[in-house]
Amino acid sequence: MKINSAEFLTSAVKPSQYPPVGGPEIAFAGRSNVGKSSLMNTLLSRKNLVKTSSTPGRTQTINFFRINDAFSFVDLPGYGYAKVPAAVQRRWGPMIEEYLKTRRISAVSERGLKGGVAGVVVILDVRRIPGEGEHDLLDWLAHYEIPSHVVLTKADKLKKGQLGKQRSAIARELSADPATLLLFSAVTGQGKRELWTQLETWL
Ligand code: GTP
Ligand code: MG
Repeated sequence: MKINSAEFLTSAVKPSQYPPVGGPEIAFAGRSNVGKSSLMNTLLSRKNLVKTSSTPGRTQTINFFRINDAFSFVDLPGYGYAKVPAAVQRRWGPMIEEYLKTRRISAVSERGLKGGVAGVVVILDVRRIPGEGEHDLLDWLAHYEIPSHVVLTKADKLKKGQLGKQRSAIARELSADPATLLLFSAVTGQGKRELWTQLETWL
């Protein structure tokens, strides 16, 4: 995909603050500090359009970006970081669910609008076996029939042999076919082309 334009639209914590629906949206979800914002920047070939941070729990709002004036990228807040105040943590689950529910393609088309969530990229750290947060998110996406694709990021952190083993272990935990779990790295760009191929089928 050639990126001609990519601009920050707005931040929101509730539906009344979302931008008007205008074409398909691709959302990026995952645990705090997993590398969501970095992955988005890599896809867009932008250095710091989406703010990244070495401090976990940095993205605490839903951030909308307009790409090529045709579709949107949506950076969802990361879940599961213990140092974020409990009150903020409690808001995240409902905030993410509310976004996915109100922007579902079927919910949007009922309102006579064109667009909505075309797919969700679920981002995992390749070094970590998924836990409750990931299971909740994937169950939730399946329940609402929202297409999703699991990406294992920070692949540059492991050696080739370890990568294969970790991918198999994560696949087992998720009852998924290992071949469907895409290895990605924001540092080397590994997986960028394959991920775009998936996103293009959604768009
Ligand atoms: P929150 O918004 O806080 O939930 O974090 P996030 O998921 O958006 O993570 P972010 O992209 O801000 O990255 C967190 C840290 O991981 C930063 O220090 C990044 O430089 C680092 N990082 C992200 N992706 C990669 C990767 O593929 N490889 C390596 N080695 N580091 C990465
Ligand atoms: Mg972030």
